[in-house]
Amino acid sequence: MSATPLQFAEWTLAMQSRVEYVLTKHMPAETEAPHTLHRAMRYAVLGGGKRVRALLAYAAGEFCGASADDVDMPAAAVELIHAFSLVHDDMPCMDDDDLRRGKPSTHKQFGDATALLAGDALQSLAFELISGAHSATQPSQQVSILHCLAVATGSRGMAGGQSIDLESTGIKLTQSQLAQMHALKTGALIQAAAMMGAYSADNLDSDKMTAVDTFSKSIGLAFQVIDDILDTEADTATLGKTAGKDAEQDKSTYVTLLGLDTAKTLAKSLYKQAIAPLEVYGREADRLISLANFITQRQF
Ligand code: IPE
Ligand code: IPE
Ligand code: MG
Ligand code: MG
Ligand code: MG
Repeated sequence: MSATPLQFAEWTLAMQSRVEYVLTKHMPAETEAPHTLHRAMRYAVLGGGKRVRALLAYAAGEFCGASADDVDMPAAAVELIHAFSLVHDDMPCMDDDDLRRGKPSTHKQFGDATALLAGDALQSLAFELISGAHSATQPSQQVSILHCLAVATGSRGMAGGQSIDLESTGIKLTQSQLAQMHALKTGALIQAAAMMGAYSADNLDSDKMTAVDTFSKSIGLAFQVIDDILDTEADTATLGKTAGKDAEQDKSTYVTLLGLDTAKTLAKSLYKQAIAPLEVYGREADRLISLANFITQRQF
């Protein structure tokens, strides 16, 4: 069961503009020195992206009883970390990608050194927002949220996965090594997004927390499987980033390991695995299930 497509589309638009507003408001203005760094940070974050991680934070928060106000800072913070990861991912020393969200990548626009610093500063800003006075949650919840995001960002999360990605370029990984790489480089932040939404709720129900944890783990992995598929199947204009990049760079992906059809079957089974622990909640879980559909059926 899931929300009607119209209800979900309206909610998605509302939450996308909500997090855009929070980000716009809490990021340093371009008029504040150092101007170039602040311009680069805003360029990397604002006016683009599907905001899937923010949507997951809001939906998981709602499922667990948090208000959207409670979730604003975690939702913005995870998008800042994600934007930082994209800035660095695109740099010549990593994937060397010139296009992101339909415009020149941050290093193409501002140069490598500024892109590097913008990524660093976006990361710090994320932690500043969730630990600061604007946070709507209690100190103990803030600590859980901070810890969750820190672990997901670091060497046991996104950065670790990116390191495995670099080391495994040109090498054939086993399916379990590939799952591990994807779970870290992409899954960890997606899972953290949902968990931070859950931690934003007062009196968090432990069964619901477990359901969100299991859901987000599977949907996080599915997210990168779909990214691998889209890299092969979609075109650059639709993606807003360079299509065919994985094959060109001999990356280890689900498509190279399993082929397109099996990768698609796997994405479907990860979707089913993701929503299984939610089904017992009936309509309460509509939003999260719709979001899982959105993630696995997306075209870019
Ligand atoms: C792209 O993420 C990078 C991956 C982790 C696969 P998204 O597809 O969520 O990118 P945006 O935020 O919508 O641009
Ligand atoms: C990116 O994976 C993962 C992170 C940014 C952490 P990809 O390298 O496949 O992402 P895209 O395809 O460039 O967006
Ligand atoms: Mg990459
Ligand atoms: Mg890349
Ligand atoms: Mg990719």
